[in-house]
Amino acid sequence: MPASTATPSPQGEAGRPLPHESAHLHVSGRAPYTDDIPEVIGTLHAALGLSPVAHGRLLGIDTDALRALPGVVDVITGADLVGVNDCGALVHDDPILAAELVHYLGQPVFAVLATDRDSARRAAARAAQVIRIDPLPALLTPQEAHAAARYVVPPMHMQRGDAAQALAQAPHRLHVRVQLGGQEHFYLEGHVSYALPREDQGMLVYCSTQHPSEMQHVVAHTLGLHAHQVQIECRRMGGGFGGKESQSALFACVAAFAARKHQRPVKLRLDRDDDIMITGRRHCFETKIDLGHDDQGRILAAQAELVARAGFSADLSAPVMARALCHFDNAYWLPHVDLHGYCARTNTQSNTAFRGFGGPQGAFAIEYAIDTIARRLGRDALDVRLDNLYGTDAHNVTPYGQVIHDNVLRPLIDELVVSADYRARRQAVAAFNAGSPVLKKGLALTPLKFGISFNVVHLNQAGALVHIYSDGSVLVNHGGTEMGQGLNTKVAQMVAQTLGVGLQRVRVTATDTHKVANTSATAASTGTDLNGKAAQAAAQTLIDRLTTFLAATHQVPPESIRFAQDQVQVGTQHLSFEQVVSAAYLGRVQLWSDGFYATPDLHWNRETMQGHPFYYYAYGAAVSEVLVDTLTGEMRVLRADVLHDVGRSINPAIDIGQVEGAFIQGMGWLTSEELWWHPSSGKLMTHAPSTYKIPTASDCPADFRVKLFENQNVSDSVYRSKAVGEPPLLLPFSVFFAIRDAISSVSAHRVDPPLRAPATPEAILSAIQAVKTS
Ligand code: MTE
Ligand code: HPA
Ligand code: MOS
Repeated sequence: MPASTATPSPQGEAGRPLPHESAHLHVSGRAPYTDDIPEVIGTLHAALGLSPVAHGRLLGIDTDALRALPGVVDVITGADLVGVNDCGALVHDDPILAAELVHYLGQPVFAVLATDRDSARRAAARAAQVIRIDPLPALLTPQEAHAAARYVVPPMHMQRGDAAQALAQAPHRLHVRVQLGGQEHFYLEGHVSYALPREDQGMLVYCSTQHPSEMQHVVAHTLGLHAHQVQIECRRMGGGFGGKESQSALFACVAAFAARKHQRPVKLRLDRDDDIMITGRRHCFETKIDLGHDDQGRILAAQAELVARAGFSADLSAPVMARALCHFDNAYWLPHVDLHGYCARTNTQSNTAFRGFGGPQGAFAIEYAIDTIARRLGRDALDVRLDNLYGTDAHNVTPYGQVIHDNVLRPLIDELVVSADYRARRQAVAAFNAGSPVLKKGLALTPLKFGISFNVVHLNQAGALVHIYSDGSVLVNHGGTEMGQGLNTKVAQMVAQTLGVGLQRVRVTATDTHKVANTSATAASTGTDLNGKAAQAAAQTLIDRLTTFLAATHQVPPESIRFAQDQVQVGTQHLSFEQVVSAAYLGRVQLWSDGFYATPDLHWNRETMQGHPFYYYAYGAAVSEVLVDTLTGEMRVLRADVLHDVGRSINPAIDIGQVEGAFIQGMGWLTSEELWWHPSSGKLMTHAPSTYKIPTASDCPADFRVKLFENQNVSDSVYRSKAVGEPPLLLPFSVFFAIRDAISSVSAHRVDPPLRAPATPEAILSAIQAVKTS
């Protein structure tokens, strides 16, 4: 068990570092994922034929040639989907199968159904031979699209004060251009849907998805059914990371449509390359900042233009950009701001949610700018950061008008500076570099502040069902989905805690749209906040009922009844939980209940981009030290120290796992994971692990120290905990800026390294070259 600074609760299951509810199944290979569900006899397998060009008019598909291939049963095209050919999440611009136009290289154009998966894939692989397309000019980069004013949603603007005037009066001006790459989700389990026709037009779809209710909605739409005729079930995903928030829709719709047409079960499981070629990922951003600051490096005003690669359709780009704008400030007080966000429409995959949801992209730019300011002033970047931090009583209003009432950054950073020995190591790094001409070390501390809640108010709701069976065992179902993050474990802990029973008594079942209705995506890190509260409410209703029953049957005041440690104290008597449940059943007490939760106090005006979009903020900071080889551009993280705020932890083991995982995932994004589209064809060339480099175990910092900050949520969250899924993705900013620090040492910190992210060896070498020649 990892060490933790969080205080375990003396009694009850909340606060304990318990293993993930499925850990024993994960490690022994017995945890069933969607593809492991035993196939029903007669199951057909689908594979998708992909567009070989980035943009064009679809002239025809030689489906006869495909039908003649071995094992092929049918070919479905966009023409078969007339009237319902859309699975867009917010804007209806996402065809299930391309109809008149193709919008990117890799877009699904037809689906082959075959008796086995191999035959389906072999047939689908002939797409380039059977699809006839009249090519059209393609916009392949966000810069081109922005220049042509081609966007998937209207530009967004966030303003406070008078940035233009403040800039004009500022003692120092700075123009920076920050290039930040996208990121492939690389969930271990790719997209998969298994659709089974049910009686009287019903359809059941087992789907690897973060958003079962949305899948229910789009499948119903595609099949012309009502929601109550469609059932979506997801026991677990092998990772989602945002990639299965909206983009599971296309696959669910194809499988369901084919299953309905043939009245046979249909499975669609993507090959890794196809998954990468078809689906979108994290938006790459280019941000141009015009900034004014004083002699100390305090920012007086910032004007910025954020351009994101949205891809061919809107998908979730609008809320992603909104979150990016809401995180442009990161941890800093910016008196005057004028921000403009553009979601550029390109003929590439449609980009989507990815851990952080635009937040990391927004915050990265200001960190880059601060790093630059510090170098220009000859100050330690940490000191410039500290001088710009949000305050607690003053300087505590965000550019979108939310008052920050829970800022713990100053004590958190102070603690980390001491525990990581930052100041002494700064000296040590300088001494090392003075005597090392080729290998250079770098050090950086970066903070984060991350807003918790969906930035679309109505999504902040959840429901749950808790059943106590007459033998005293407990079953929980809630609207959230399990993708490895430990949501089910935490929800079960909250139910166990509320009922005063041990965790072994509580089982969580698959997410199922027939159980809890109208759920939100498990996203925005809110899974536990929302579903934990809903499940807790359901459990509390049951406790209230049992208490009323016991008070009446035992003639004691309700206050004398206590549920704890599988025992029930009734006045002076001690009963087992089973005894109480059994008696209540015989007494005809309803032993199951629903629970509902809606986050209070949220409001947001999309037009003015002002309001109170977040229930609270999570905070954290990290110190990273790197070693850069200035001849090869190779880099290693020697040590990383993390102090992260999860409020009062429901499960410190799981939370530390989330912080570590997010750190490594974010480090991969900023250092090794590079996406590259062929500049003339628009083909994504990095569509396999051979060319797309996610971090491996050997890339972990040799010395990795993760601690949870001692804190409680000041907002009334579940157990006073804080969401943990996404915020720590910003921690490895420290790795990037440590690399920039190492490069800058080549010029004795006189020249700003023009380092782009990801800081691959090529990017590092080119920045070193630029520093040396300037
Ligand atoms: N952790 C694992 N192991 N696998 C995942 O797919 N997704 C992340 C994060 N942590 C993810 C993960 C993302 S993008 C989000 S929004 C949250 O988990 C969602 O779960 P939660 O709200 O229950 O924390
Ligand atoms: N995160 C994830 N998904 C979302 C969000 C968000 O903030 N807003 C709308 N959908
Ligand atoms: Mo997470 S990007 O909100 O699924």
